[in-house]
Amino acid sequence: MRKLSQLLTENQIAKVRAPLENSYWLPNIAYTSGDFFRLETENLFSKTWMSIGFASEAEYPGDAHPLTVLGHLPLVMVRDEAGRLRVFHNVCPHDGSKAVFGDAKGLGRIVGQYHGWVWNLDGTLRDATLFDGTKGPHGLPDRDADLKEVRSCVWNNTVFVNLSGDACPFADYIAPVEDLYRDMDLSDIKPGLTKEGDQVFIERAVIESNWKSVYENFAINVYHEGFVHRGYKAAPNVPRVTDDGKKTYEEIDDRGYQGLRFTSTEADLAYGLVRSPVLSMKDGSVPDFHTIMSLYPNTNISVAPNYMLITVLTPQAPDRTAYDSMMLLPSDVAQQSKYARQREHLLTVDWAIARDEDGAVLKTVQAGRHSPAFDQHFIVPFWGAMCRSFCNRILDDLERSEE
Ligand code: FES
Ligand SMILES: [Fe+2]
Repeated sequence: MRKLSQLLTENQIAKVRAPLENSYWLPNIAYTSGDFFRLETENLFSKTWMSIGFASEAEYPGDAHPLTVLGHLPLVMVRDEAGRLRVFHNVCPHDGSKAVFGDAKGLGRIVGQYHGWVWNLDGTLRDATLFDGTKGPHGLPDRDADLKEVRSCVWNNTVFVNLSGDACPFADYIAPVEDLYRDMDLSDIKPGLTKEGDQVFIERAVIESNWKSVYENFAINVYHEGFVHRGYKAAPNVPRVTDDGKKTYEEIDDRGYQGLRFTSTEADLAYGLVRSPVLSMKDGSVPDFHTIMSLYPNTNISVAPNYMLITVLTPQAPDRTAYDSMMLLPSDVAQQSKYARQREHLLTVDWAIARDEDGAVLKTVQAGRHSPAFDQHFIVPFWGAMCRSFCNRILDDLERSEE
């Protein structure tokens, strides 16, 4: 495994660390190289909390949902008998095949498909079938034969894991998000269902670009909005600056939760998105703000008066990022069939148009990262404070590789 100092020069690091007026992005290699991607996998994603998907994909006891994260790592979500969602490394302790091959519903146990070993839904071995050639059951108390569980936590239907097991408590990690919406009544939000009403609606896409470009584009690169998005170009308040060069939004950069907040009036002018019943504040008033925010390193969590949008970004390769989104809405809007069209429209039209417009540009950004005429480029100070903070947070994490 290469170290940060073997991939970036001292000068390149110093340029990222410089004060905002003279600061630079990470250089191209950070966006294109497999070695850099592995450095991030080992020292960044594995050691903090990261989102991996949605708990509704294994909704009822006995449901299992295998997935691959960070391009290579097999995990599986399993809902145990008590209804608790667990995440395991999806590898069989016997001979290393996957423990669960595909999505499954209502399992009473997990059965290895290679040699028939059996585990309980909490990952403990129930039977090392025919271990000594005789019919069992065979427990193996002296051997390491249980499925390996990963530290996990479910927050608003979103599954977060900490692969290394020693990151801060999840409550501390999610605290900046909870603090921002502290005055909002989110006690009755539920994941929006499909129009059939039988499962949570998840909108999936893949963006052909490095995860950092996707993260950065979503919330903290406010600069691009008025140029990339057809819908916003016509808005009177985009770009988000006044005639005399003042920002019309508030920048938030709190413990890894970064993005912008603006009033509902500003939001209506720009997006015209509010057309379903709204959430309320704890004092009963209607929320008068709209946020577009990302939680380091890979989750977008934005709140409008009528929904919370959560997107899980899954880095698959240096140039490829999966983009899976779900919405939480007031429970009647989330579940009742009369709102089905409205809630689907929010994800499949309103947000999907913006995502695809961004995705098309991000693909060209990824191509540009291969150009020798553009390596490490300067950050535009007026717009780039949050971008500088993002790049520095990445360096902070990657410096662990030197230890
Ligand atoms: S590899 Fe799973 S039962 Fe043998
Ligand atoms: Fe955008």
